Amino acid sequence: MTDNSALKGGDGTDRPAAYGGEPVREEGMGYGGQSITEADKEAVVEALEGDYITRGPTVERFEERVSDLVGVDHAVAVTSGTAALHLCGRAAGFGSDDEVVTTPLTFASTAHAATYADATPVFADIDPQTRTLDPVAVREAITEDTAGLIPMHYAGHPPDVTAFLEIADEHDLTVIWDACHGFGGDHRGEPVGSRPDMAIFSFHPVKNVTTGEGGMVVTDDDRLAERVRRLRSFDMNYDPFGHEDEPWYQIIEGEGYNYNVTDFQAALGLSQLDRLYEFKRRRDEIIARYDEAFADIEGLRTPPNAPDSDPMYHLYAAEVREEFGCDRAEFVEAMHAENIYVQVHYVPLHFHPFFQDEFGYERGEFPVTEHVYEGLVSLPLYPAMDDGDVEDVVSAVRRLHAYHG
Ligand SMILES: Cc1ncc(COP(=O)(O)O)c(C=O)c1O
Repeated sequence: MTDNSALKGGDGTDRPAAYGGEPVREEGMGYGGQSITEADKEAVVEALEGDYITRGPTVERFEERVSDLVGVDHAVAVTSGTAALHLCGRAAGFGSDDEVVTTPLTFASTAHAATYADATPVFADIDPQTRTLDPVAVREAITEDTAGLIPMHYAGHPPDVTAFLEIADEHDLTVIWDACHGFGGDHRGEPVGSRPDMAIFSFHPVKNVTTGEGGMVVTDDDRLAERVRRLRSFDMNYDPFGHEDEPWYQIIEGEGYNYNVTDFQAALGLSQLDRLYEFKRRRDEIIARYDEAFADIEGLRTPPNAPDSDPMYHLYAAEVREEFGCDRAEFVEAMHAENIYVQVHYVPLHFHPFFQDEFGYERGEFPVTEHVYEGLVSLPLYPAMDDGDVEDVVSAVRRLHAYHG
């Protein structure tokens, strides 16, 4: 590493912390985080004082609010985005003879919609512009065993919805939209998650709204919704035919789960939804400031914008390229030294031992994903950031670039 401090005005004040300067901030800042108000806390306490602290009427109200917002007939609340993917894979009927095509640039849970059902996850490469699945690569990955398709909204950027619905139609595939990053956004005039067959969201604390842990399946399909509801709660038929005179009689019709959420989590979710557009506005402001501040920085690719759409972006995933002057690993370390805990989303799935050992994947198989991954770094983006926090990120990136420039 070169010591350019002599070029930077003598006293070293512009020197990044990693090379001997003072950190831009003393307090650590992560890449994401929740925003909890007094109103959120009051809503949770009120729910705790109610009759139900497991799944009850507040969960139903939360589901109704989400289904209205997404413009679909059904929303089923579950304990996490991972659980939502699990139930979608089961409801889709994936099995051991099936292949399900998805992106390697995602969190493992996306592929678990296939693996939990003993199906094979088949990765297809991404579009380098949007960082979402490439429809051409998806077509190449389809075989006679393909049963499903799971496009993911990377950082909140919608995938090519029209192309994937066309492919699904041609090959009779079930589509599960992993919209964990995209809740609250619009794509070409339609709410994210509103297209067939099913979409899922996560309400983990770093996501667009939170319930602590939590997730949701949304769909217009009555049969799939009923299947997901049943599986969420033990695959139990609470009102079986032929037992009308035995009010206690409930029957297990298959192998279900306990993915029930609590009324107090749903109360937090409802309260958070009151501020959804406030959250979105703040995220958009921060993104606009970063885009402007980094426009002239060679070698820092700012995230793409989705045409004719108004996504709610979960991540500000930039790409550090050679012209920046240092590689991504050095960039991450230098930002950490500034007390800004940037993160990388994601180590591609085919790099992980699980997917290599179980399905034979190897490094080198998805060159676009790998090239994008080499540069990826998620800068802090969350509504609770104040202007000072945002400027700290801008200063840290700019001083690092100046140092290496
Ligand atoms: C794209 C994607 N899918 C699925 C999940 C799983 O969601 P959860 O953490 O709610 O289980 C995540 C969460 O990190 C995610 O980012």
